Amino acid sequence: MKTIVVLTGAGMSAESGVKTFRDSDGLWNNYRIEEVASPVAWERDPEMVLEFYNQRRKQLFEVEPNAGHKALVKLEEKFNVQIITQNVDDLHERAGSSNVLHLHGELKKARSTVDPSLVYTLDHWELKLGDKCEKGSQLRPHIVWFGESVDMIGPAVEIISGADMVIVIGTSMVVYPAAGLLHYVKDEVPKYYIDPKAFQVHGVSNLLILRKKAGEGVPFLVDQLLKQA
Ligand code: APR
Repeated sequence: MKTIVVLTGAGMSAESGVKTFRDSDGLWNNYRIEEVASPVAWERDPEMVLEFYNQRRKQLFEVEPNAGHKALVKLEEKFNVQIITQNVDDLHERAGSSNVLHLHGELKKARSTVDPSLVYTLDHWELKLGDKCEKGSQLRPHIVWFGESVDMIGPAVEIISGADMVIVIGTSMVVYPAAGLLHYVKDEVPKYYIDPKAFQVHGVSNLLILRKKAGEGVPFLVDQLLKQA
């Protein structure tokens, strides 16, 4: 079975009602990154940081996977589909995708501040000051904050380097190292970029652009790929 690697960003979940970061109504228009998504913010005002993620986690219990997420599951009928997502929502998993790697963490998980290997899945939306790990330290969101290392980038490079095809969906391609992943793909490998504002990524060849929303563009492309397979 050929391997298709799918790199997704916030635009993948936009039609599910989850805000993106840099669109006109994006999250970074209402919050300052350094106030809610950095180790400094956590040191300065942990309650504000917890509240920022609590609000996003609460919304996650109210949204559903969209047609784009579901089409990627259908693609598994004839391909080995490996998803590398920058998103911290669980919509790919809830749609039924089998292989999902989260580069920037997971909203529904919390981890110990004294032992990062202690990671817990939250079954409710609120993480509060005083919620502690089994070693007695405060729990924090299991999210990669600005200024922190993206520990999953190694496995992601490994996966994308072996792709027979790559599909990029709903990302502005401005945050590294995620945005650099396309450069690990061989020139001859066909690549697709589905995004209303998709652009020719500098130094990347064999890239076909579909300036469509995920809910329309992904099912369209998946149908074409399944017919050709
Ligand atoms: N379908 C497809 N793409 C869409 C849709 C849609 N319905 N709506 C918006 N988009 C596109 C936008 O055109 C934009 O290119 O989604 C992209 C969203 O870009 P960003 O908001 O920058 O999100 P993303 O690229 O995922 O950000 C990367 O930055 O803030 C950090 O950690 C955060 O993971 C995030 C990273």
